[in-house]
Amino acid sequence: MMVTGGAGFIGSTLVDRLLAEGHTVDVLDDLSTGSLTNLADARASAGHSLIVHQMDVSSSELVDLMARRRPEVVFHLAAQADVRLSVAEPIFDADVNVLGTVGVLEGARRDEAVRVVFAASGGTLYGEPDVSELPLKESLPHRPLSPYGVSKKAAIDYLFAYRDLHSLEFSALALANVYGPRQDPHGEAGVVAIFGELLIKGEPVTIFGDGTQTRDFVYVDDVVDAFVRAATRGGGLVCNIGTGRETSVNDLYREMASQAGADARVEYQPLRPGELARSSLDPSRAGIQLGWSPWTELGAGTGAVLEFIRLRLAAGDA
Ligand SMILES: NC(=O)c1ccc[n+]([C@@H]2O[C@H](COP(=O)([O-])OP(=O)(O)OC[C@H]3O[C@@H](n4cnc5c(N)ncnc54)[C@H](O)[C@@H]3O)[C@@H](O)[C@H]2O)c1
Repeated sequence: MMVTGGAGFIGSTLVDRLLAEGHTVDVLDDLSTGSLTNLADARASAGHSLIVHQMDVSSSELVDLMARRRPEVVFHLAAQADVRLSVAEPIFDADVNVLGTVGVLEGARRDEAVRVVFAASGGTLYGEPDVSELPLKESLPHRPLSPYGVSKKAAIDYLFAYRDLHSLEFSALALANVYGPRQDPHGEAGVVAIFGELLIKGEPVTIFGDGTQTRDFVYVDDVVDAFVRAATRGGGLVCNIGTGRETSVNDLYREMASQAGADARVEYQPLRPGELARSSLDPSRAGIQLGWSPWTELGAGTGAVLEFIRLRLAAGDA
C-alpha cells in the first residue's frame, strides 16, 4: 500500500490503521504541512513494514519510485489543502493538486495498481448550493468556488478519465470537516483543533461571523475506516464522508468549553470572504456502497482532541 500525504493528520492515522492490519506501507510526503512526529509510533514499531519517502508528489521522480515499490493500492491524500493559499497562489495549488494527481495516476497505471483512493473535498466540491439541498448529495452539480476546490474537482475528472482510458479503478471520498488528534491547530480548516488549543491554554477564542454558520464534523477514525473500505468497494464513485448533521460554530465552542472546563473569552470578528454559511454531507451512498457510517459522537471526538492537546502541551510541545 502507498499513502501519499502519509505524514499528515488524516494520512498518518490511516498509516497506523494499515500497519495494524498487517499491511506493508510506503509513505510519500514532502513534510510541508505533515510531520514525522505523526509517524513516530508507527516508525518505532513497524520495522521494515513502513518506509517513508520524503518527496514532492509533483516531482518527476514519483513515477520511478512507484515503479520500484509497485503498490497495489494508492491512497492519495497529499495536497495543498489551504483554501486561502489557493486563492493567493493558484499555480502552486494546481501544481500540487492537479499535476501531483496526474503523476500518481501515471505511476499507478504503469505499475498496474489495483486502485487509487482519493481524498476529495466535500466542503468545496458542491460550491454553495441552496440550503434546501442540505445535507448535500453526490448527484448535485460540482461547482467549486475556490482554486483549491477546482483543483480537487479536476483530480476527480482525471480519475474518471483514467478509469475509462486505462481501466484504473478509483474511489473518491468527498470529506466533510475532518477533526481529531494530530490536526494542526495552526492550519486554517481545523476549527476543533484551534478551539481545543486555545481552550486548554486559557486564551481567547476568535469566532468569525456570528457563529451560526454550520459545518459537518466527522471524526478522523471514522474517516480512516471509510478509506480502508474504499480500497475494495465503491469503485468508480464519489462518496460523501460526513455525518449528514450540521453543527454551528457556537454550539461546537460551547460543547468544547464545557468539556475543557474553561471560561475563555470569545471575540467575534467579521465573517471571512468566501466562507460557506451552512454545510453538511449526506453519507447515504457511502452507507450503501462502502457499508460505512459514522459512529463517533461529536462530544466523544472533541473529548479525545482535548485530551490529546493536554498531553502534547504537558510533554512540552508548542
Ligand atoms: N482535514 C479535512 O477536513 C479535509 C477535508 C476535505 C479534504 N481533505 C483532504 O484530505 C487530505 C489530507 O488532509 P489533512 O487534513 O490530513 O491535511 P495535512 O496537511 O495534515 O496532510 C496533507 C499531507 O500532504 C503532504 N503534502 C503537501 N503537499 C505535498 C507535496 N507537494 N508532495 C508530497 N506531500 C505533500 C503534507 O506534508 C501533509 O503531510 C488532503 O488531500 C485534503 O485536501 C481534508
